[in-house]
Amino acid sequence: MSNKTLGLSTELHEYVVAMGAREHPLLRRLRQETAELPQHNMQIAPEQGAFLAMLVELTGATRCIEVGTFTGYSALASALALPPEGRLVCCDVSEEWTSVARRYWAEAGVEDKIDLRIAPAIETLDALLADGAQATYDYAFVDADKSSYADYYDRLLELLRPGGLMVLDNTLWGGEVLDPDPQDKDTAALQALNQRLRDDSRISLSLLPIADGVTLARKRART
Ligand SMILES: C[S@@+](CC[C@H](N)C(=O)[O-])C[C@H]1O[C@@H](n2cnc3c(N)ncnc32)[C@H](O)[C@@H]1O
Repeated sequence: MSNKTLGLSTELHEYVVAMGAREHPLLRRLRQETAELPQHNMQIAPEQGAFLAMLVELTGATRCIEVGTFTGYSALASALALPPEGRLVCCDVSEEWTSVARRYWAEAGVEDKIDLRIAPAIETLDALLADGAQATYDYAFVDADKSSYADYYDRLLELLRPGGLMVLDNTLWGGEVLDPDPQDKDTAALQALNQRLRDDSRISLSLLPIADGVTLARKRART
């Protein structure tokens, strides 16, 4: 026994998914359809979908934002966990990938909860801020281009209410965050972001070794 997080064998990972994630049949079908795409690794893991749904439930969120939607798995998992009045703004630049998402959202009956904005996410977040939405969101999930995470973080922290939760994906970046001299901008950006979050007294922080690393950043009421 150890007090360090277990490294998961393939079998133990399968056990986690089988015992710890009640994957909705449409989520499973979406995962199977997405597996046919060359970019399928961009999709979140099924146990992560269950975790995000749990966070949405725990926070009692009704106003949510997602940055990086792809074929819609994380959005569907979150929307299914939202109450009937819950709303999720989804930001993505791809009509093609989000057309798959739209099909599944419609089939699941959650399309009315989701407001998909096709534009660079910075533009969408800036538009929300320009509309006066500061401190009105409960929950945000970030899973898009890694080099823009710091810009998303700044804007989403403004959009979240005190006590609101931001969830950032891929913060361990396949272990590349350990590289002392990263040559690619995504690794360098994630390293800088992780340090910045560690030192930011405006948030409560927890970096979890779930999937590719999931950071929880809760906006503090007072700093
Ligand atoms: C890792 S995937 C998201 C996976 C998704 N959360 C899921 O559960 O399947 C990243 C997505 O970010 C989108 N993206 C990349 N750059 C973007 C930008 N500047 N603004 C908005 N979306 C962007 C891509 O089109 C892609 O769909």
